[in-house]
Amino acid sequence: MTKPKLSLIIPTYNERENLPELVRRIHTSLKEIEYQLIIVDDNSPDETGILAEKLAKKYPIMVIHRKKRGLASAIVDGFRNAKSELLCVMDADLQHPPEKIIDLLKKVKNVDLVIASRYINRSSVKGLNLWRRITSEIAKALAQAFFPSIRRIKDPLSGFFILKKNVINKIELKAIGYKILLEILVKGRYKNVVEIPYIFGKRKMGKNKLSFVEYLNYLKCLFILKFNR
Ligand code: GDD
Ligand code: MN
Repeated sequence: MTKPKLSLIIPTYNERENLPELVRRIHTSLKEIEYQLIIVDDNSPDETGILAEKLAKKYPIMVIHRKKRGLASAIVDGFRNAKSELLCVMDADLQHPPEKIIDLLKKVKNVDLVIASRYINRSSVKGLNLWRRITSEIAKALAQAFFPSIRRIKDPLSGFFILKKNVINKIELKAIGYKILLEILVKGRYKNVVEIPYIFGKRKMGKNKLSFVEYLNYLKCLFILKFNR
């Protein structure tokens, strides 16, 4: 493979039912671009990893199989294997519309980091129920209270973003829990960040994996980022 223009990192845990549509829609919307898709699967019991290997025969996919669990650490393992200078991260459950990647790609030309944001004009969190809307607001408020430098960013906990590799080069990411973007915003080397709106849709198939433990992990992440650097 020649060096791709874009490395797209997708963490998966039990996403078998979403993966074919996701891969197809990514491929259609990126038809003009040389990209590599890195699927980081944590030994999903539903055999998402095996399905990903099958899809890799037809599409430019690299599959990383891990024995441990963890969304943020899966993304960091994806970063380590990425061949491109541009790194994009998104979920596998189609809550992040693949058609938006191209907009992120256009925007990142002039900046270091572009966040697909749920909390700016023309965005929406259609896919979040009331409980998740409330906890998301609380989590965001905590992040902004802990880190004044990122207060201007409306969605520091987004799971859908693109960055230039330089932003995280030589930076040690602890990757605790779910929210890797927060750690990147706190530790990364960047000058400019922009947010673009999108509609956070409903999960297409399968179940959400955010457990109560992840709420505790989030608090742990905040404290470690703040006090243990
Ligand atoms: N490899 C791996 N390992 N992937 C995982 C794991 C894990 O332990 N846990 C979850 N994932 C994958 C899922 O398969 C999915 O592709 C993605 O991570 C998001 O998981 P969901 O279970 O759908 O989480 P969510 O919808 O609550 O969270 C998403 O939305 C948040 C915004 O509310 C994530 O994108 C968050 O990063 C985002 O902040
Ligand atoms: Mn989801």
